[in-house]
Amino acid sequence: MPHFPKPAEGSWTEHYGIDTKPVSYQDSISPEHYEQERDAIFRRTWLNLGRVEQLKRVGSYFTKEIAAAGASVVIVRSGPDEYRAFYNMCRHRGNKLVWQDYPGVEVSGVCRAFTCKYHGWQFGLEGDLQFVQQEEEFFDFDKADWPLRSVRLEVWEGWIFVNFDDDAAPLTDYLGTMLRKLEGYPFHEFSQVYKYRAEVGSNWKLFIDAFTEFYHAPILHGRQAVEEESRKLAGYGYEALWYEVDGPHNVVSSWGGMSPPKDESMVKPIERKLRAGLFGPWDSPDVVPELPSGLNPANHRAWGEDSFLFFPNFMILIWERQWILTYHYWPTSHNTHIFEGTAYFVPPKNARERLTQELSMVTFVEYALQDANTLEATQTMLETQAITEFPLCDQEILLRHLHTTARQYVAEYENTKAGAQ
Ligand code: FES
Ligand SMILES: [Fe+2]
Repeated sequence: MPHFPKPAEGSWTEHYGIDTKPVSYQDSISPEHYEQERDAIFRRTWLNLGRVEQLKRVGSYFTKEIAAAGASVVIVRSGPDEYRAFYNMCRHRGNKLVWQDYPGVEVSGVCRAFTCKYHGWQFGLEGDLQFVQQEEEFFDFDKADWPLRSVRLEVWEGWIFVNFDDDAAPLTDYLGTMLRKLEGYPFHEFSQVYKYRAEVGSNWKLFIDAFTEFYHAPILHGRQAVEEESRKLAGYGYEALWYEVDGPHNVVSSWGGMSPPKDESMVKPIERKLRAGLFGPWDSPDVVPELPSGLNPANHRAWGEDSFLFFPNFMILIWERQWILTYHYWPTSHNTHIFEGTAYFVPPKNARERLTQELSMVTFVEYALQDANTLEATQTMLETQAITEFPLCDQEILLRHLHTTARQYVAEYENTKAGAQ
């Protein structure tokens, strides 16, 4: 395996001034700490809810349950180039405004106005109250005083973000320089979307841990490959091309492994037929004339993929072969979360391309299941507290960074709260 240059200090972890001592996972098993994270992180940072292409026309909407922030929101395209977010709650007596058969289930659709199921109040796409049943029965009542309560929403490169904190800095400030160097990537070209969702029995940070290090990949996922390849992978180990941290966000840049493999006999027949596998499609749709400066930060010829963590819970993986994966981790308690994996491709031009994309997606899901299985085994053991300190290697730098960042948000928030009292 080629050895990639580490920084002069000899380790990435020391280069970024991150502590190298063994770590505690108390922050992933404590219900109290989780409650603090809800206030300090999920009610104050910019949270991604997908892309503008999900809202095809004026009036297109979707709802999102964000348990960690204690909110349900509705996102709507209110004008040709205008998007809004509202608390999904009726101004009359608090009924959930947009839902179908089950109030807890997320929905999407197109409408001209939102009508409450309870007493029929109607709100326009801009949140304005438009109709009240028996309006004359209300006291000193002016509809203009009762719009839907809005949530801050900003769009960056077609990605929709909301923030429950009215005092938070604007999204582009929050993203910082490293992530803004992705600007110009033609994300809108990737409009063929495949989604996968799972309820996972682990703390949300543990799953991010599993996707910001690939140290585990040759071992945990090794058996996915044909036998000979699997032995080779385990022998190689894993070393990233590049790690970077910028404020709360981070990236790991990785080599492309075997897409396409040098020796096609090393992969399964279906992969040879459909020209896709472990790392997605082997062929590129050729829609990215030039990489923005934020991609392939090591400028390495073996570059295959960059995984960006947008703190707290959103990851974008951009592949050299021109497809995108995103992950969202939505906490539902200190030891459970909902994982969403979404793959974005350039729309297929024929049936074979479609199958290539489907194979990439099912391969990814198989991986995610292998990871998720391990997470539940880890969470239950961490909770026994039989062992409470764990050594992390240099390839696990981003785990240290994530947990340290999350703890800092909690500490700063608790300090401000104490100062305000
Ligand atoms: S609660 Fe919505 S109309 Fe009464
Ligand atoms: Fe994995």
